[in-house]
Amino acid sequence: MPVVGSVAAKPAGGSLEVNDVCHEYVRAGDKTAVIALGPVSLQVSAGEFLCLLGPSGCGKSTLLMIIAGLLPPTRGTVAVDAVPVTGPSRERGVVFQDYALLPWKTVRSNVALGPRLAGASRREANQIADEYLELVGMPQAGDRYPHELSGGMRQRAAVARTLAAKPKVLLMDEPFAAVDAQTRGVLQEELVGIWARTAQTVVFVTHSVEEAALLADRVVVMSSAPGRVQEEFPVTLPHQVRFSRESAPRVAEVAASLLASVRVAQPRQSRQVASWSG
Ligand SMILES: Nc1ncnc2c1ncn2[C@@H]1O[C@H](COP(=O)(O)OP(=O)(O)OP(=O)(O)O)[C@@H](O)[C@H]1O
Ligand SMILES: [Mg+2]
Repeated sequence: MPVVGSVAAKPAGGSLEVNDVCHEYVRAGDKTAVIALGPVSLQVSAGEFLCLLGPSGCGKSTLLMIIAGLLPPTRGTVAVDAVPVTGPSRERGVVFQDYALLPWKTVRSNVALGPRLAGASRREANQIADEYLELVGMPQAGDRYPHELSGGMRQRAAVARTLAAKPKVLLMDEPFAAVDAQTRGVLQEELVGIWARTAQTVVFVTHSVEEAALLADRVVVMSSAPGRVQEEFPVTLPHQVRFSRESAPRVAEVAASLLASVRVAQPRQSRQVASWSG
C-alpha cells in the first residue's frame, strides 16, 4: 500500500459525478417508504468547492452519505474520476457535524489513523498528524484527548483527521453548525485557506446562506420532498477577498439571492410557520 506523504505533497482533488440518484428509506415501524431524494444529478470538477443548501429534510445528508459510499442509492450512480462508487473509501473523507473522533485515542492518534491505515509506520503517521494539526492551527493539542478540547477544537481535529487521510473528495455535513459564531468564522476562513493549498474537491452541506456565500465556488440549492436540484449559483467573488470587511456587502448580496432561492425551495407548510413566527 502506498504510504501517505506529508502536507507538502498536495492531494489533487477528484472529479465527482452524481447521476440520477434517488433514495427511498423504509420506515422502521410501519415499513412505509419515504422518498427522500431525487432524482439528483451533479457534476463537481476536480478542486471545486461546492455548497449544498436546502431546507431541513430535503435530503442533503442522504446525498452526502450516498457520495461517501455509506448508503447505497435506491437508483442512480456516483463516480469519482469516472470510477463507480460501491462503498466507503479513503478517497472520500467525511466530516460529520458531531466530530466523530475516537474518544479513547489522543488527538494525534485520531489524526494519524488515516495515514496508519494507508500503511505509514507509527512514527511517520504521527509526523503527518502533527503537520495537519499545525495546518488547522492546533499544533499543541496532539497529546490531549477529545474530551479535553472545546467544541471548535474538536471540529478542527476532525477536519485534520479527515484531511490527513488525503481524500480526493472532502465531504462535510454542516461541520461548523455546533460551534459559536466567532469560532465558526475562524474555521470557515481556515478551511478556505486549507482548500486553496490542498486543491481538494469539497462538497459542503450547510443551512446557512451566509456560509455558502463565503465558501463556495458554486452553490446548489435543493428543494424538498423529495430533494432535487432547484437552482445553481456560481459565486465569482475571489476567495482571498471574501472574508475582508470591504467584501462584506458583496458577500451579503450573494447570500440574499441564495436566501430568495431557499425560500422558494421550502415546503409551503414550513414557510407558513416561518412567517407566523417571524
Ligand atoms: N433512516 C431513515 N429512515 C426513514 N426516513 C429517513 C431516514 N433518514 C432520513 N430520513 C428522511 O429522509 C429525508 C431526508 O433526510 P436528510 O437527513 O437527508 O435531510 P437533510 O436535508 O440532511 O436535513 P437537515 O437539514 O435537517 O439535516 C427526511 O424526510 C428524513 O425524515
Ligand atoms: Mg442533514
